[in-house]
Amino acid sequence: MSICIELAGKTAVVTGGSSGIGLSISKVLLNAGARVIIIDIDDKRFETVKDEIKKISAEFDFYSADIKNSEKISETVQVMISKESKIDILVNNAGIVKDGLLIRMSDEDWLDVIDVNLNGMFYITKNVLKHMVKAKSGRIISIASVIGEIGNMGQANYAASKAGIIALTKSIAKEYAARGILANAVAPGFIRTVMTDKLPDDVKEAIKKSIPLNKIAEPEEIANAVLFLCSELSAYITGSVLNVNGGMYM
Ligand code: NAI
Repeated sequence: MSICIELAGKTAVVTGGSSGIGLSISKVLLNAGARVIIIDIDDKRFETVKDEIKKISAEFDFYSADIKNSEKISETVQVMISKESKIDILVNNAGIVKDGLLIRMSDEDWLDVIDVNLNGMFYITKNVLKHMVKAKSGRIISIASVIGEIGNMGQANYAASKAGIIALTKSIAKEYAARGILANAVAPGFIRTVMTDKLPDDVKEAIKKSIPLNKIAEPEEIANAVLFLCSELSAYITGSVLNVNGGMYM
């Protein structure tokens, strides 16, 4: 039996969709037939990937916005709704790291990471949910991290933001299940993107050795998990955390 996931007629919003995992999610959803709206702070980066996106489908649009700016996000969602008329899927993917040992971490680095990764998810989800509630359906998939489950040295801000994403996801799942809205998180392990390319080679090698599947994942491996959570195949799954980490944490 072959299963083909079909998202024709669905509109998906992907935050941080100009790069890495978000770009891959955007491409995979476009390939499945969805219309994809990318929200990203980096419009220059989007310009560099626009043509490769266009090769898959012309059914996409781009909004430049900072996810941690509550007013701008509310305004962007309003403009989007007036143009698209609906949002079926929201993928909360935009995220940053500002690593450092807790004792030396500045208030600014703590707040920046919490603002983008967690508060950003709150701002956009709140605005999109209003429309999903009216439509009595919707899927919200948020990209957490294995670090939000196990913690990490030098990543207190990041770990706390990602654990917050998981708790927020479960609360949305409980609050809106009766309205036909499913909320799940995907927790990636170690994925090859600009976020992780910065690490020294010996650190990358040590991380690889700690992964039972002995491999650093490609962004598509996360995108495929998101595709599953957007599809009818996952219609009875809500409030869950799907670990896509090669066995790093079980
Ligand atoms: P990336 O740095 O390649 O992409 C992040 C995207 O988010 C970029 O396009 C960036 O412009 C956008 N962005 C950043 N701040 C923003 C803001 N304030 N407003 C709007 N857009 C903003 O990173 P990557 O690796 O693709 O990460 C994507 C998500 O996956 C993040 O949430 C990250 O925490 C998570 N993740 C990544 C892992 C990895 O190994 N790369 C592992 C686990 C989770």
